Amino acid sequence: LIDSRIARITSAIRVIPDFPKPGILFQDITTLLLDPVAFKDTIDLFVERYKDKDISVVAGVEARGFIFGPPIALAIGAKFVPMRKPNKLPGAVISEEYSLEYGTDKIEMHVGAVQEGERALVIDDLIATGGTLCAAISLLERVGVKVVECACVIELPELKVPYSHRSGEIRRQATVC
Ligand code: PRP
Repeated sequence: LIDSRIARITSAIRVIPDFPKPGILFQDITTLLLDPVAFKDTIDLFVERYKDKDISVVAGVEARGFIFGPPIALAIGAKFVPMRKPNKLPGAVISEEYSLEYGTDKIEMHVGAVQEGERALVIDDLIATGGTLCAAISLLERVGVKVVECACVIELPELKVPYSHRSGEIRRQATVC
């Protein structure tokens, strides 16, 4: 059952060469969203894994973590916390900077969105270098939240992500293709 769901999910994700620049194979999850069975299977796989893990926070990384995170949060009875690009959130924020291939980027979270001692799941669509997820882990750990796991729909194994660096460990589990 799991294998047939993963096969359907994998084939629903469109791969577009040379987007946004030459040499990049873009993993387009918008076609997965057009297939309600595959989209539901994606959410169900995460929910099956995380429903009994005492998770009170699902943190979704902008932008596509905002698509997959909320249905998972609702299904497991957790709140949803958006981790946004800089200067998008209106309230007081804490932010975490991380390195890109050239330069740096930042993600931000509202102060007060989570409480010390809560248990969080971090959701994004894709892990490439792991920089974004590490920043998300650091942000949550700085305010005393335990990151139970990070989960993505897609991993790019050819990028040889260091699954354990800085203070947080990014576990490979629950990557569905
Ligand atoms: C993509 C993807 C992840 C991140 C993964 O987002 O959705 O959030 O890159 O890369 P990493 O593992 O190397 O950090 P992108 O930067 O394209 O932003 P967007 O979702 O706003 O388009």
